[in-house]
Amino acid sequence: MSRRKQIYEGKAKILFEGPEPGTLVQYFKDDATAFNAQKKATLNGKGVLNNRISEHIMINLGNIGIPTHFIKRLNMREQLIKQVEIIPLEVIVRNTAAGSICKQLGLEEGTRLPRSIIEFCYKKDELADPLVAEEHITAFGWATPAEIDEIMAITLRVNDFMCGMFAGIGIKLIDFKIEFGRYTDKDGSEMILLADEISPDSCRLWDMETDKKLDKDRFRRDLGGVTEAYTEVATRLGILKENPKSAPTLSLVSDQED
Ligand code: TMP
Repeated sequence: MSRRKQIYEGKAKILFEGPEPGTLVQYFKDDATAFNAQKKATLNGKGVLNNRISEHIMINLGNIGIPTHFIKRLNMREQLIKQVEIIPLEVIVRNTAAGSICKQLGLEEGTRLPRSIIEFCYKKDELADPLVAEEHITAFGWATPAEIDEIMAITLRVNDFMCGMFAGIGIKLIDFKIEFGRYTDKDGSEMILLADEISPDSCRLWDMETDKKLDKDRFRRDLGGVTEAYTEVATRLGILKENPKSAPTLSLVSDQED
């Protein structure tokens, strides 16, 4: 782990001071939590897998012009990122009904939604991240109307790209959660960046043929095989060598820096 000064510790990651002003080091832990941390476990290798999967997705999103906080991966568990002021919203996109929307609206899991739906939750652990409307966001000043417009536009592009990327490897993108931050450039101009991580912790991913869950629902619902599922996602994305017998931490493609 980085010997730098710790800035923040979350449920699955730690942020350390970066090597230059305006940068941070994001460390991926093996800790898994669910139901607002009422359920906890350590899943060996999860942090390594999420570091690589999130790197892969952020780089690909960057390549299509989506502004992200990602600079580069440093080693097995750490990546260098731009320091942002996190906007206190969890932005959720749903393509197929699963999880909380099923309970809220009485939908059957797996029901295709009439169109992709964006939801906002207020990031506040004490309140278990409640669902909020744009009215709450602007009234309480969590983001401006212009920022919400930009966040929604980026979010739809992220969804389009990720649906295609996962479809190409036989996976349905059911839903996901992303976060955004405000970044101030060296010349003082402010912009919104995609931040945090995108991994099987923050997405629902189902095998296209069998509907097998390849994401954190395996942990939430005690289905077993959590890291195996994350390994499968990484393998299909081409991040892992095709060698199911070797431990994920040993079989990562091109890890010379570690
Ligand atoms: P939900 O159905 O429980 O509201 O979750 C929607 C998506 O958001 C799902 O892909 C899991 C992800 N998610 C997080 O990344 N963090 C969270 O704290 C929660 C509740 C959901």
